[in-house]
Amino acid sequence: MTEPRQSRPKGTQDFVPPGSERMRQVEETFRRLAECYGYREIITPTFEHAAVFVKSSGETSDIVTKEMYSFKDRSDRDLALRAEGTPCVVRAVLENRLRMPCRLYYVGPFFRYSRPQKGRYREFNQVGVEALGEASPLTDAEAISFGNVFFESLGIRDCTTQVNSIGCRECRPTHRAELRKFLLERKEQLCEDCKLRIDRNPLRVLDCKVETCRQAVQDAPTPRQYLCSACQKHHEQVLAALNRRGLRYEANDRLVRGLDYYNRTTFEYISASLGAQDSLGGGGRYDYLIEEFGGPDTPAVGLAIGLERTLLAASVKPTAARRHLAFVVWLTEAELSAARDLADRLRADDVPVQIDYDARKIKEQFKSADAAQAACCIIIGPDELAKGVYSLKNLATGEQREFSSDAISGEVRKLFEG
Ligand code: HAM
Repeated sequence: MTEPRQSRPKGTQDFVPPGSERMRQVEETFRRLAECYGYREIITPTFEHAAVFVKSSGETSDIVTKEMYSFKDRSDRDLALRAEGTPCVVRAVLENRLRMPCRLYYVGPFFRYSRPQKGRYREFNQVGVEALGEASPLTDAEAISFGNVFFESLGIRDCTTQVNSIGCRECRPTHRAELRKFLLERKEQLCEDCKLRIDRNPLRVLDCKVETCRQAVQDAPTPRQYLCSACQKHHEQVLAALNRRGLRYEANDRLVRGLDYYNRTTFEYISASLGAQDSLGGGGRYDYLIEEFGGPDTPAVGLAIGLERTLLAASVKPTAARRHLAFVVWLTEAELSAARDLADRLRADDVPVQIDYDARKIKEQFKSADAAQAACCIIIGPDELAKGVYSLKNLATGEQREFSSDAISGEVRKLFEG
């Protein structure tokens, strides 16, 4: 289906002010928090060799089979827009030979070709953290709690944290065999995707969202029932650390997550206010991925959070507050050069200034100042020019006073600080 050239592609969004500013505000909150936990920023390309995702997210995962934006470049290379951050970080850490343990965070756009709806887009933004080289269950608990602290700092209160363990290479094969047997007996109740998953990836049937599948797996063997003693101990330590932090969580025995690289801990943050796309974020441990990429045997744990869904759930409303912005208003051509000089001088002093060079009527200039949510106007008319002063009008209170050229910058700053 062709879309009209003047509209954006299906599943994408424009962020115009003040929505774009809210987005940056939430990103800033994330950056500060990530740095507070010792993470440093990593920036990777927005496209990778497609194999990076096939190898990690999983050949049978929805991401790889249905959602990846893959394409061939002009030299016939198989590339893909990045669908998630974890494989990109692992690839980059190995390629750049970063010393592990290392903690990295990322912020940016990701791409998945899925059916667009509220909270689900084809281009969306994620923030994420990855702790590479950390085996302790305390890191799992800290990562789980990191997401909670982030949501709390944005005033999101209706978020439930679900936690599970899906075992390791030792205990998974027994569970897989039992689960496969169970699913084969109920094959007819499963959706077409899950019928295929019985052989390819039976674990994924456990958290299929289709109602008939949900019912079919109600009594299915869960990974937790088959944990080996090392995984059991790890899981108990994660839960004990969460309890010690006073963090409330729900055990969800069916939480396996849609990506193939996880082992042991998986977790997800669910919001009650989002409707069908209710996962605000999620993550887990992936102790085998670095080795599968050809690196040393290195444990790791991480999580990613969707920014669009966070904005939908957050109470960060666009503020009606005025911005730290002064609007220079001039009356006649005779004052234009003084107005220009003033704007440049204030900007050099780090005071944000907007000016309309187009000789619009003064009323129009005031309207523009209001639309820009400027805190004040600095007016230069024939009287001000003759006296060598500027009139400073506080747009919140309407108060207007004259100040000398030397004092104006300081007075504007004082007004910004309120
Ligand atoms: P994920 O669960 O696939 O995990 O994505 C994390 C979050 O990204 C989701 O909970 C959701 O908020 C957001 N998200 C995903 N797809 C969309 C979409 N189509 N539209 C809007 N938001 C979306 C990962 O990506 C893993 N890499 C997380 C991780 C990091 N595991 C270990 N480290």
